[in-house]
Amino acid sequence: MDQRLFTAARAAMERAYAPYSKFLVGAAILAENGQIYSGCNVENAAYPVGTCAEAGAIAAMVRDGALQIREIVVIGRGDGLCTPCGGCRQRIREFAAPETKVHVCGPEGLRQTFTREELLPASFGPENLA
Ligand code: THU
Repeated sequence: MDQRLFTAARAAMERAYAPYSKFLVGAAILAENGQIYSGCNVENAAYPVGTCAEAGAIAAMVRDGALQIREIVVIGRGDGLCTPCGGCRQRIREFAAPETKVHVCGPEGLRQTFTREELLPASFGPENLA
C-alpha cells in the first residue's frame, strides 16, 4: 500500500460529516496520472441522500480528467473491516481493473487488501454495454 494514500484517506476521514451514524469514513485513490484524490462520507438529515467516501474520491478524480484507479484505500474506525458497501463496489468497478487493489484500513494502518474482483465477482461493467 502506498503510504501517501493512507495518509490522505485518514485526513479525509477526519473531515467526514457523519453526525447521524457517527461513523467516519475516508477514501483515497491513486489514479493513472499519479495524482491522489480523496473523499469522505457526507451525511444528510434526509438520510438516503448521504454519500459515501468512495463516491467523493471518485468524483474528484473524474473532475480532474482521470478515469483509472490504480489503487484505493478505504478507512474507518471500529473493530470490523470498513469494506466498501455494495454500491461503492460497483462505483469502483467502473474505473478499476479486476486485479486493482482495494486496501481496507483502520486508523492504525492496513487491515486487509482485496482485489476488485474479490469484492465484486462476475460484475456488470462498461464492456457489457458494448
Ligand atoms: N460509508 C462509506 O462512506 N463508505 C462505505 O463503503 C460504507 C459506508 C458511510 C456511509 C454512512 O455515512 C456511514 O458510512 C455509515 O453507514
